[in-house]
Amino acid sequence: MNIDIFGLGYVGSILIACLSNENKVFGIDVDEAKVEQINKSEPPINEPNLEELLNKNKQNIKARTSFSQNYHRSNIGFICVGTPFKEGLGLDFQYIYRVVDSICIKLSQEKNLDTPYLIVIRSTANSKLISELTEYIEDRYGLIKSKGIILALFPEFLREGSAINDFFDENSISIFSCTNDFKYVEEILGKIFPWNIPKYVECDACSQIKLLSNSWHALKVAFTNETSQILKKAGIDSREAFKIFRTDKKLNISDAYLRPGFSYGGSCLTKDLSGLIALGKENGLKTPLLEGIQKSNDLYIERVSYDLEELNPDNIIFFGITFKANTDDLRASPYLLLAKSLKTKNIVIVDDIISKKIKNNSLSRGNQILLGNLRDCVIASKNLDKKRIINSKNNILVVSHYIYFKFIEKQGLNNQSIINLTHMKCSGNFPKSISYV
Ligand SMILES: NC(=O)c1ccc[n+]([C@@H]2O[C@H](COP(=O)([O-])OP(=O)(O)OC[C@H]3O[C@@H](n4cnc5c(N)ncnc54)[C@H](O)[C@@H]3O)[C@@H](O)[C@H]2O)c1
Repeated sequence: MNIDIFGLGYVGSILIACLSNENKVFGIDVDEAKVEQINKSEPPINEPNLEELLNKNKQNIKARTSFSQNYHRSNIGFICVGTPFKEGLGLDFQYIYRVVDSICIKLSQEKNLDTPYLIVIRSTANSKLISELTEYIEDRYGLIKSKGIILALFPEFLREGSAINDFFDENSISIFSCTNDFKYVEEILGKIFPWNIPKYVECDACSQIKLLSNSWHALKVAFTNETSQILKKAGIDSREAFKIFRTDKKLNISDAYLRPGFSYGGSCLTKDLSGLIALGKENGLKTPLLEGIQKSNDLYIERVSYDLEELNPDNIIFFGITFKANTDDLRASPYLLLAKSLKTKNIVIVDDIISKKIKNNSLSRGNQILLGNLRDCVIASKNLDKKRIINSKNNILVVSHYIYFKFIEKQGLNNQSIINLTHMKCSGNFPKSISYV
């Protein structure tokens, strides 16, 4: 395939080298020095194996400073120009617009546009740019409706220093978005990246997943370093400690705890986090990240509490009050903290485990103290007064444990207003459910 690549910096020079294995690639950059380097198979950036690849594929690579000097006709161009972030203004897309103008001008001069030209934006961008650019191309050049141009977003997730390895990694994130013609885009991108076929995702998600990924990486680095400083001050070998930490592939290095839901609870997370913060303090260290974790967790409970009060419901019915399903543990339960924070007196708590324990007189003293006055609100699901709920106008059902969804549906309460705090996505059977995540 013939491919154009606009911008030959960190992103573009990797793309030109890697795609030239199987394609004829034409690079365009306004920087003459970079163009000259690419034409001499000299990498414009420092990246392992880049020089070898440029050399190996030199027959397939050409670069120029202008698109009008293109040496082949291609039907696809990857835009890899800079999009600097300006404080208060957001991303600056002026270079992308310049490239798009050069493409449109060239295409407008062609009489027979039998195949569309696919513009793939590899630079950091967002869905707003895609819709504005679509409008711009149509208004100015009339090339969208006529299918002269198709526009797609295809973010890149490579790491500098291992970019070429990452490029051919079949497990890295490979997603694209476009406003229409997604089958066509999927087919073309699938031919170019057969080892990791790009999957279509909705436009906003497509641009934000990269921000999410990079924020997560930043959090991991800051967490590792903040906690390692605490360990070091306490005389512990942090490198050895993290070596052991990384061996836990079930909870530490895994997808555990990465499903959007509600605040964490339980005694272990809360207590051990406080313990590590205290160790840092004892050793004169500031621990803004660790302290921020608990603050963030509490803030989420406060937010939901505020919203529940604002809705001024006649009844608030909790489904699950322990810190997670299938336990009788109420310690640091975010659902209990939420229930306790409410001013309203009309609270019902459906929790089969706690209600059974109350009935059997086997609820631990600690849990009794934590429950306090709310003890009288706890009932078993079988005792829920379904009619009372259906007859009152303004109920809110707070679902803490996903296991109660089936029960709610069976009781015909699925049309009630539901606040879903679980990890599960509510189906269409719960038309008035809302979720914060
Ligand atoms: N560097 C990374 O690791 C990385 C990773 C993912 C995404 N990105 C994104 O990719 C984009 C490019 O990043 P980069 O690090 O490669 O930037 P860069 O500054 O290294 O390269 C951009 C290149 O575009 C060229 N350019 C500018 N205007 C042009 C025009 N009108 N026509 C042709 N070329 C033009 C510049 O001369 C420069 O060589 C940015 O949006 C960046 O956020 C970068």
